[in-house]
Amino acid sequence: MIRSFLNLLTGRPTLCVYDLTTRCNSRCAFCSIWKRREKEMNLKEIEKVFTDLKRFGIHTIFLQGGEPLVHSNFLEVTDMLVSMGFHVNVISNGILMSENMISKLDDMNIRGRIKVTISLDTLDRKKYEKIRGVDRLDAVLKNIRSLAECRSLEGGVHATVTSINYTELEDLRKLIHDLGLDFSFNTYNDVKNYASAGDRSLSLKNSRKVEKIIAEIEKLKERMPRLYRPFISDNIRYMRGEDVGPCDAFIDSFRVTSEGMLTPCLELPPFYDLKKQDISREWKDFKKRARCPIERCYTRTPCFYGCTRGMGSVKRNPPTAIVGFFSVISNRA
Ligand SMILES: C[S@@+](CC[C@H](N)C(=O)[O-])C[C@H]1O[C@@H](n2cnc3c(N)ncnc32)[C@H](O)[C@@H]1O
Ligand code: SF4
Ligand code: SF4
Repeated sequence: MIRSFLNLLTGRPTLCVYDLTTRCNSRCAFCSIWKRREKEMNLKEIEKVFTDLKRFGIHTIFLQGGEPLVHSNFLEVTDMLVSMGFHVNVISNGILMSENMISKLDDMNIRGRIKVTISLDTLDRKKYEKIRGVDRLDAVLKNIRSLAECRSLEGGVHATVTSINYTELEDLRKLIHDLGLDFSFNTYNDVKNYASAGDRSLSLKNSRKVEKIIAEIEKLKERMPRLYRPFISDNIRYMRGEDVGPCDAFIDSFRVTSEGMLTPCLELPPFYDLKKQDISREWKDFKKRARCPIERCYTRTPCFYGCTRGMGSVKRNPPTAIVGFFSVISNRA
């Protein structure tokens, strides 16, 4: 905790996005990760990499992919990360997040360290299939209800907003808040580098309807928790094509690929093998090498992801940052 706090103060990342696998049981229109077949670390390699990351000061892991639940060692890996002291947010499409799976995660939830976030973008079956490429809305809704009823897991639902589903945001928020779960969203990133499918027809950014969409999001903002609002404001600026400032990749967060390679974010290519190197010893060099492509890409092909922008939006808003700091200290010590 102290190391993570020092990282927060000195501009070293505290959040690691880990792609357990690139395999997936969905075929989302906005994502291209499922088309990739990348190597995966074995349990021994995962243990080495994350022991180093714990020493470095990583506090939270977004355990995602691909779909983390299609990995046969998903439960062992989650258990290992939680036992090492990380806070783990499992980000899943929810298809395999059954009552049984939720109960197993609930049992391993030491000191409230596990959060489960299920992605859901629409309540309309046809739109779900159009967005996610599979007809599984009913199963996902059932699993979201099980998550809401479970004993100790913190639970949430995350929506990716595109030209298909933006009118549904308030209905989604209401359903999820009524179930007692967190609701979060961010707009679709249409820049095609690594993760995004780059389908411009889904994009809101350059849409003629952009001000109408922003009005929907502004209405919703008032009903969202205070801590989340600066991120929404920055997301709106981004949609209008306004300057949102330098990207916080490699300041607040980075990504570890399924192969154990280090990369600043979901979109830039990996450049260091964490299976062979110790991040604490090499950090200055990593950082120097990463800053250059980050500075280039945020001005030329900016994108806006929660993992790279969320913490920065809060930190640059002092009143919210103070509230956020105390809520983290009281909930997550
Ligand atoms: C890459 S997925 C991995 C975890 C899991 N398979 C899932 O869908 O939740 C993590 C989140 O990124 C979102 N996402 C995928 N492609 C995106 C894009 N191009 N722009 C913004 N968000 C995207 C997904 O909707 C999901 O909420
Ligand atoms: S967004 Fe998630 S569920 Fe959809 S294809 Fe990508 S990894 Fe799979
Ligand atoms: S703007 Fe940030 S998140 Fe987007 S590609 Fe560049 S470094 Fe990555």
